Amino acid sequence: MKRVALLIDNIGLLWTMSAGSEQEDARAFCGREQMRQVGALENAAIAVDGEGRIAAVGKRRTVRDLADAGTMVVDAQGAFACPGFVDPHTHLVHGGSRESELPLRLAGAGYLDILRAGGGIMKTVRDTRASDPAELFAKASASLGRMRSFGVTAVEAKTGYGLELDTERKQLAVANALAKASPNTLVQTALPAHAIPPSRMADRDQYVEDIVRMLPVLHSDGAEFADAFVEDGVFTVAEGRYILQAAKRIGMKLKIHADEMVSCGGAELAAEVGAVSADHLLAASNEGLGQMAQAGVVAVCLPGTSFYLQKRPARARFMIDEAGLAVAVASDYNPGSSPSENFGLTMSLSLLSLGMSPEEVFVAATRNAAAAVDRAGELGVLRPGRLADLVIFDAPNPAYVLTHYGVSHVRSVYVKGQRVYG
Ligand code: NIG
Ligand code: FE
Repeated sequence: MKRVALLIDNIGLLWTMSAGSEQEDARAFCGREQMRQVGALENAAIAVDGEGRIAAVGKRRTVRDLADAGTMVVDAQGAFACPGFVDPHTHLVHGGSRESELPLRLAGAGYLDILRAGGGIMKTVRDTRASDPAELFAKASASLGRMRSFGVTAVEAKTGYGLELDTERKQLAVANALAKASPNTLVQTALPAHAIPPSRMADRDQYVEDIVRMLPVLHSDGAEFADAFVEDGVFTVAEGRYILQAAKRIGMKLKIHADEMVSCGGAELAAEVGAVSADHLLAASNEGLGQMAQAGVVAVCLPGTSFYLQKRPARARFMIDEAGLAVAVASDYNPGSSPSENFGLTMSLSLLSLGMSPEEVFVAATRNAAAAVDRAGELGVLRPGRLADLVIFDAPNPAYVLTHYGVSHVRSVYVKGQRVYG
């Protein structure tokens, strides 16, 4: 056994999210029975090796003995702890802000009306094109720090505010630099299929071909996933299929912004192309959700977005209870539809507006969120061999963390065995 560099002792309640074997822990929890499992341990401790991986996790009396004179011991003072949160859907790197849109929306304009008029996503495209990499880095780095303060240790980051190769690449370069400079794990997604620039509307087929040409470059720049905004008035299901199949052929994994406003077949497409996740899904059909479950697609709910856009939230209860889906939650942090890095708020809204139980919310924010970025074998579960990414709270119990909402109860955050917050 490797030397124990760090011992986090005296954890009153630890939700490991482990189901037992390594094999079982390499996949998401699906449906009501599984999503209640949190792998609870009382009076627990975690031993971490010199490489930032978990050497042992279990009852204090067994784990404590692994420490030696050189081990740093942290007394958690009976606190509640869980795996570091994975935020599996963000638009982390972008320029500018969009507070100017709220009065328009409150006066009755729809999110897609604003986009059609050249605002919305297109406003952020202009701001991102005009920002130099240093500005984008400083802004995204501050956001990442805020995310860490809420317990987020791994983040998915999308492009999609370039809509032409140079700016899409600039977004990836900034995210690559952040991955080097920050302790967080970053997972990158190429989203040139986020909107059709108004100047390209007349030849939209050509823009779709341009996207297909951009994907190999973005993939070799570090984008592991490709994503597309499949929605009435944005990309059609046929266009989404064409783009995502092209991405798949070059070895990219797939995600979809699916059925956010209108039920247009996005969930069905996610199942058909074998996407790792389909996200939003406010208007997804029962059939589409059923097909996603069959195909093993993770359903990512974004309750902050439905709250901010004042829309009826996704049907998480149907997804879990009826469709038997693996549900994850994400912030969707972006300047237009979810301008907040507060993952604690995402989790509270998962309880309050999606109707999930505290157990389901924590599973959706850890283990299942890891599966949504194809990291189920690495992140989201505390077990020997995994990265020592974890959160310690100042709260009497997990339900308190969610119900005493809008403020952070995070005491400290560890990434790879290093304290990065608190
Ligand atoms: O996930 N729905 C499309 N894309 C983003 C919003 C992007 C924006 O408004 O800037 C989303 O909500
Ligand atoms: Fe999004």
